[in-house]
Amino acid sequence: MAKFETVEVTTDLLIVGGGMAACGAAVEAAYWAKKQGGMKVTLVDKAAMDRSGAVAMGLSALNQYVGIAAGDNTAEDYVRYVRQDLMGITREDLVFNIARHVDSTVHLFEKWGLPIWKDDAGKYVHEGRWQVMINGESYKVVVAEAAKNALREAGGEYYERVFIVEPLMDGDRVAGAVGFSTRDNKFYIFRAKATLVAMGGAVHVFRPRSVGEGFGRSWYPPFNSGSSAYFTIKAGAEMTCQEVRFIPVRFKDGYGPVGAWFLLFKAAATNAFGENYMQTHQDELKKYAPYGAGKPIPACLRNHLGMMDLFAGKGPLYMQTAEAINKIAEGVKAQHKDDPKEADKAFKKKMKHLEEEAWEDFLDMTISQAILWAATNTEPEKVPSEIAPCEPYFIGSHSGASGAWVSGPEDCAPKDYFWGYTNMCTVKGLFAAGDASGASSHKFSSGSHAEGRIAAKSAIKFITENNTLPKVDAKQLEAARERVLRPVELYEANKDDTTDPTINPKYLMPRQFMDRLQKIMDEYAGGVSMQFTTNEKLLKRGLELLAFLKEDSEKIGASNLHDLMRAWENIHRMWQAEAHVRTLLFREETRWPGYYYRSDKQGLDDKDWKVFANCKWDRTSGEWGFMKRPIVGIGV
Ligand code: FAD
Ligand code: ADX
Repeated sequence: MAKFETVEVTTDLLIVGGGMAACGAAVEAAYWAKKQGGMKVTLVDKAAMDRSGAVAMGLSALNQYVGIAAGDNTAEDYVRYVRQDLMGITREDLVFNIARHVDSTVHLFEKWGLPIWKDDAGKYVHEGRWQVMINGESYKVVVAEAAKNALREAGGEYYERVFIVEPLMDGDRVAGAVGFSTRDNKFYIFRAKATLVAMGGAVHVFRPRSVGEGFGRSWYPPFNSGSSAYFTIKAGAEMTCQEVRFIPVRFKDGYGPVGAWFLLFKAAATNAFGENYMQTHQDELKKYAPYGAGKPIPACLRNHLGMMDLFAGKGPLYMQTAEAINKIAEGVKAQHKDDPKEADKAFKKKMKHLEEEAWEDFLDMTISQAILWAATNTEPEKVPSEIAPCEPYFIGSHSGASGAWVSGPEDCAPKDYFWGYTNMCTVKGLFAAGDASGASSHKFSSGSHAEGRIAAKSAIKFITENNTLPKVDAKQLEAARERVLRPVELYEANKDDTTDPTINPKYLMPRQFMDRLQKIMDEYAGGVSMQFTTNEKLLKRGLELLAFLKEDSEKIGASNLHDLMRAWENIHRMWQAEAHVRTLLFREETRWPGYYYRSDKQGLDDKDWKVFANCKWDRTSGEWGFMKRPIVGIGV
């Protein structure tokens, strides 16, 4: 087999991931590490931090800004908003903790050079109540630069293009991580006193809408492949909300964002016959009281009403862009009633401005949608544009909730939700933030950064109070190295058995493995082709097929380092898939219609299921355990 050098790195705090939460963690940890004197912080990203993670292409808004100092909103308001959107299932202590700190993160972004839109009075321009508009094409570069500078100044390190595979353990305490370089033949061992997981969520677990020539295009970035879930599950951490996938409704095929259209332009979405499904299906919302009756209408229920028309054959669905833009411009025209010439001039000027904003919204974060509009002669001021529900994603920081079950903050977490260190998982020394931590939805980019900071400060405290390097025996390291590099070895040992090295009886290639995973998830766990619907029988059959896939996960081959990354990405996805299917089975109701439907358990069941559905994979027995955890609010 090709030679792989083993590189060992010893650190105090290890941050795995280089996205929003990890960058926040790096800045905060560097500050406290410097204060403590001589504490080392190391960050590892599978990609280049400047353009890694969900914010890689840029974003057009900061979706969480509370505006506490200006008196616009309170952190309690934000808790009520998230509780409503997630149909009552949320960790209010965690949401509150992020909400009370997020504004300071936004102010840091601005200090570091992120252009935030301001009105003539110098106030942030809002897209909606919580969202502020940015010129965000270089958002991630700005945030990454600050993180790298902070690490350098504190004597820390960052590794780019090193893929983290799995945790190292010292009994019930995490001891670091192992991974490999995606550029050089190097196997990495990171030993650490505490490890902070921030490797994002997961995409391509389900068969995507974009297949064939569009393959790889998805709403969620293809780079995040369930590594956070895998890492925490394998460390033996309790997980939460694994059933809560997110289905964004997006401009079809380019996956352009809809928030600006709904909130800023006040556009309506309709079925193909021009009917506004949010109005025609109002009665349906009553079934989901109190959430259906509250405001804003939860994202899953907004999806649900659109899906009712789609599944009834009234598609395609459309965003009425032209109607919205024209209505705003007409409003400006009306201000010049007495001067028709001036009115016409004002109308044209406003139309031009709105048109620019519409394109910029995509160019800031989803360039492919702008290209698709251009390629299909879609002029938003003249014609409506098709929208559609995407395939399911796992993204605990957005309108999903999946992630690790973490400790809340001491001052406001209910007793059952606090075990010593804020954002620590149920495994000693293991912290999680951003998509990696569960049941604290709607933190988005800014809240994930803030949560990274919170988790890092807490991890540094853990280190000062547990200042020993966990022990990892040589046997564990040798086994990890063998397992991580096995795909390369399998491929090299057997590739000459067949004329086409991608078709081989001794191994399967990462893509073949992924295709099978996606087919199982699509057909049995309620993917796009099943109209997001599943039932007990389908889920149980899906689990049988996943068990065969798991056997084959030991047989993935890799012809090079890129393939090796693909191999591990898919194993990570498979574990995320299994946690999802098992939890879908466990929760016997349909709490989030529009995200998924249990056809055999329709509707809400508050009596039995207004609880968290948690799970834990036992490291010794290899068995999954499931438990309900009570919802305890913070009294707001
Ligand atoms: P990410 O920022 O995605 O970072 C994950 C990191 O983990 C990356 O650095 C990645 O390279 C790394 N990684 C993954 N696997 C491994 C591995 N095995 N080893 C090492 N490193 C690994 N929020 C807003 O505020 N405003 C918006 O307008 C907005 N729009 C969005 C649009 C889209 C299309 C998406 C997907 C999200 C959007 N969000 C928006 C949400 C926001 O991007 C996320 O909430 C935020 O990025 C989550 O932060 P994170 O650190 O958990 O994950
Ligand atoms: S993004 O992640 O791609 O930017 P999106 O554009 O859907 O998300 O939404 C941006 C923000 O607007 C999010 O906070 C989302 O919850 C909110 N949002 C989008 N559509 C609506 C709507 N119809 N009603 C209320 N909030 C909405």
